[in-house]
Amino acid sequence: MSKNIVILSGAGISAESGIKTFRDAGGLWEDHPVEQVATPEGFAADPVLVQRFYNLRRAALKTVTPNAAHIALARLQSEIRARGGDVMIVTQNVDDLHERGGAKYVLHMHGELKRVFCTACDFHADWDGDVSVDTPCLACRTVGTVRPDIVWFGEIPHHMDAIDRALSQCDLFVSIGTSGAVYPAAGFVRVAKHYGAQTLELNLEPSEGNLYFDETRLGKAGNTVPAWVENILAG
Ligand code: APR
Repeated sequence: MSKNIVILSGAGISAESGIKTFRDAGGLWEDHPVEQVATPEGFAADPVLVQRFYNLRRAALKTVTPNAAHIALARLQSEIRARGGDVMIVTQNVDDLHERGGAKYVLHMHGELKRVFCTACDFHADWDGDVSVDTPCLACRTVGTVRPDIVWFGEIPHHMDAIDRALSQCDLFVSIGTSGAVYPAAGFVRVAKHYGAQTLELNLEPSEGNLYFDETRLGKAGNTVPAWVENILAG
């Protein structure tokens, strides 16, 4: 049985919870071009619009719930850890559905809707409500410098050292619900393979990097993930 597993999740795992994926929406994120709401340049050009956009996304989290895939991964993580192994969940998602599904150890490489930071003093904080261009930083009190802790295009993803270490040590790498279009996450399968891991893709359709996976199971994450978790825990 695999004892040391790295999971990479993407928007597809939250689709059945009612959160829209990116690449099914014609390059738009909730009707906005990504350059407008997911780049530092877009934020500089119109901070009011960008703050409002993330306030709406943050508020929308209250209307969705984890699905069977999130819950199955949380169970896998706790049962494998109880047997002395490890399951690291690396997610590109900025929602909190892995945690609300019960997962304890989740690395959000593209940031989190429910976190903010201050561009003046780099103070990071959990954040549940709205942020405006008038919100003062909780630490340095500067006004206008609090922004969502979301990794925008052109910015460096979070936790890369820990992710690289985990990829080099895992014996199984599983990619779930991601199109494989955005690097560096799209390259993780090759890193894991280079270090000798088995690789599995669970997705609705073959991803862009599908040829690098040893095995592919197509279907909705709400079906494929619980079935795969059952296999692993029984094996
Ligand atoms: N079950 C499994 N897979 C699904 C489901 C489902 N119910 N619904 C959709 N998918 C698959 C799609 O077929 C697609 O391959 O999930 C994938 C979603 O791909 P994207 O929308 O490109 O999302 P993701 O790969 O997470 O995007 C990566 O791009 O815009 C940036 O920063 C953003 O983190 C995001 C990154």
